[in-house]
Amino acid sequence: ERLEGRVAVVTGAGSGIGRALAERFAAEGMNVAIADIEKEPLDDVRRDLTERGTPVLAQVLDVGDEQAVHTFADRAFDRFGAVHLLCNNAGVFSGGQIWSRPASDFAWALQVNLWGVLHGIQAFVPRMIEGGDEGHIVNTASVAGLFASPFSGPYSVSKFAAYAATECLAHELVITGSKLRASALCPGGVATRIHQSDRNRPAPSAPTGDQAFVDQIIADTVAGGIPPAQVADQVVDAVRTQRFLILTHDTYRPGLTARANALTAGALPDLPDYEPRA
Ligand code: NAI
Repeated sequence: ERLEGRVAVVTGAGSGIGRALAERFAAEGMNVAIADIEKEPLDDVRRDLTERGTPVLAQVLDVGDEQAVHTFADRAFDRFGAVHLLCNNAGVFSGGQIWSRPASDFAWALQVNLWGVLHGIQAFVPRMIEGGDEGHIVNTASVAGLFASPFSGPYSVSKFAAYAATECLAHELVITGSKLRASALCPGGVATRIHQSDRNRPAPSAPTGDQAFVDQIIADTVAGGIPPAQVADQVVDAVRTQRFLILTHDTYRPGLTARANALTAGALPDLPDYEPRA
């Protein structure tokens, strides 16, 4: 798929993977529409890209707010006339033992990580199809959406759901004869600010006994993580080659086979060896 001169949309573009995606798409000569819940980091990205000559539309929004996402889509189509590459990327980490954590933890993770993706699909995809051009939707799930991650219940539940939404979307695009394709971005550890996700949480979580352990899991993931720019390279490659699953870490590939084999035999899948353990 040709990228130059086309239009990319990235949510969660103020930091980490989203910022790297926006920068990479700009470097490919795309126009970009970026959104984030955090104003200052988003302004910073907008300034940076504008200085490099990229046409940018920036919108502060909460991806969990359906109306706000639809308004963002209206603005993007008004400004650029089309959207070709949609990255539903904004996400937050919320961990903890599945029987300990309050419903509000699950609700927040699902609101951002699942509903954010669904709102993005529903606000943009019908008009992308109508536009008649080739195009691509990349939803950021996680390896935690392919392997259930202990002590990451709210996150893992939301990421399995985001993954499922992406696989449904990919099938439906093919079955309906659309020229659009979809990919599930499933990163392993990436060096971003995901371990500080609570900075964007509307109401703080009640502390539970497993907090220190959970904080350690996510801090380790980020500390050993690959640079976000490397993820952006892989996304561009997958869009160009129309690959569905973007697994940023090859080390997880054998685990996928082992998982399928275990499930086929009716067994509980092993944790991938490189996952932190209690
Ligand atoms: P990050 O924290 O650096 O960036 C996430 C961005 O999303 C931030 O700019 C944040 O302000 C924004 N955001 C949070 N809630 C929002 C909301 N309700 N509406 C709009 N924007 C919101 O973290 P990172 O790692 O770049 O996260 C990007 C995606 O990658 C997330 O979906 C995350 O779950 C996923 N991911 C990250 C991994 C990692 O190791 N960093 C591994 C696997 C997946």
